Amino acid sequence: MSSMNYAEKIPNNVDLAHDRRLQRALEHWQPKFLDWWQEMGPSDFAQSEVYLRTAISVDAQGWAHYGAVKMPDYRWGIFLADAVADRRIGFGDQAGEPAWQQVPGEYRSTLRRLIVTQGDTEPASVEQQRLLGHSCPSLYDLRNLFQINVEEGRHLWAMVYLLHAYFGRDGREEAEELLARHSGDADKPRILSTFNEPISDWLSLYCFTYFTDRDGKFQLKSFAESAFDPLSRTCRFMLTEEAHHMFVGETGLGRVVKRTLEVMQELGSDDPVRIRAHGAVDLPLLQKYLNFWCSSSLDLFGSEISTNAAASFASGLKGRPDEPQYADHVLRDSTSSVDTPQGAQEVPALNALNEVMRGSYLKDCEIGLKRWNRAIERAGHAFRLTLPSTRFRRSIGAWINQPVDPEGKMLARADYDRRLHEWIPSQEDRAFVRSLMQQVIEPGRMAGWIAPPDRGVNSLPVEYAYVSLS
Ligand SMILES: [Fe+2]
Ligand SMILES: [Fe+2]
Repeated sequence: MSSMNYAEKIPNNVDLAHDRRLQRALEHWQPKFLDWWQEMGPSDFAQSEVYLRTAISVDAQGWAHYGAVKMPDYRWGIFLADAVADRRIGFGDQAGEPAWQQVPGEYRSTLRRLIVTQGDTEPASVEQQRLLGHSCPSLYDLRNLFQINVEEGRHLWAMVYLLHAYFGRDGREEAEELLARHSGDADKPRILSTFNEPISDWLSLYCFTYFTDRDGKFQLKSFAESAFDPLSRTCRFMLTEEAHHMFVGETGLGRVVKRTLEVMQELGSDDPVRIRAHGAVDLPLLQKYLNFWCSSSLDLFGSEISTNAAASFASGLKGRPDEPQYADHVLRDSTSSVDTPQGAQEVPALNALNEVMRGSYLKDCEIGLKRWNRAIERAGHAFRLTLPSTRFRRSIGAWINQPVDPEGKMLARADYDRRLHEWIPSQEDRAFVRSLMQQVIEPGRMAGWIAPPDRGVNSLPVEYAYVSLS
């Protein structure tokens, strides 16, 4: 296994010490990253000691170290999963040939764009979440937020390493731009629209980590298949960290459901007005948040019919998540049926790959809903949470701006406009959720709208003081 060097200014397992030029370039970028963190990262908690995990090995067993750290002192580093000996390209027109250790000239600009687009989402989410510490429902949750934030910071490092190491001067310029764009900025926004949506409450954070970080998982899985081996190794390791982000989303939403069911039980009522008056999130309100974040995240997979996706696959840059599960890895001789407002359309299978990925993503999204619905059913309620149709509220692809309800039914435009607030959070809904967001920082205590977690972090009790504020 490759060893990790923690003694260096930039912890790494890519033997940075023996590549002076690259080391100097990254050391030049590092203070800019730290400035960005101070300015755009979590607001006001720079002096707090946070119980964080830090990657110290890429070994699946025991890769992390846990301990109290101030976030600005976090050891952000560059870690690649171990190389696979004699790795071969697993898909596309060059399937079976050796994986690339350098970027082939003809794919240089496409690969750079793919890496920059992925890299841009990492600091974007830190920016989106920067104020949430002020309204955390518990210290346990506050710590989880900060864990996600520092890891997204490390994911930025991962992409910047690739840009610096393999794309020369253009790569270094792109690395600067990754710190210059900001989430929601009018002049220089982040590249993808979901990453410009404000995350001003914790219900949105749990939805974001459930739906949007899961998009991240699928993007990383498709890059893990890439013929460009350094990208594949980088993304394979990022996936180990990403799993925690989705865990926060799934358990966070599960705890909201649990608390709501307790309140419904106490009140003997499922009346949203009474549940809200009791300081909990009624299930129809939760459904609106799911509709909002799921539909927004579905756009991240791109158009249903895409020649870019076809080209990235054919050339070996980006595969399907879990590519080995498929029988045909070339896809030159098959077609797929794609659902469009004009009816089903038969297109070359290569052009329908975004839809394939969106399909596996949705299947993964269903898992949490099944669990929450079981809890709702056990509590004796008929209400069921659902995922919105992939046609609903899309701002990209075949269904862009179509007046479709969450079940996928086409409506008259006026009906759609009139009823949209029934399906996604209205101003009043958002104001109500914001009113619940009161900071709770007494160890072990939880805000009234969320149940405690089943267990604490790394075998510590839930009451542990995960963040010492100062
Ligand atoms: Fe990430
Ligand atoms: Fe993430």
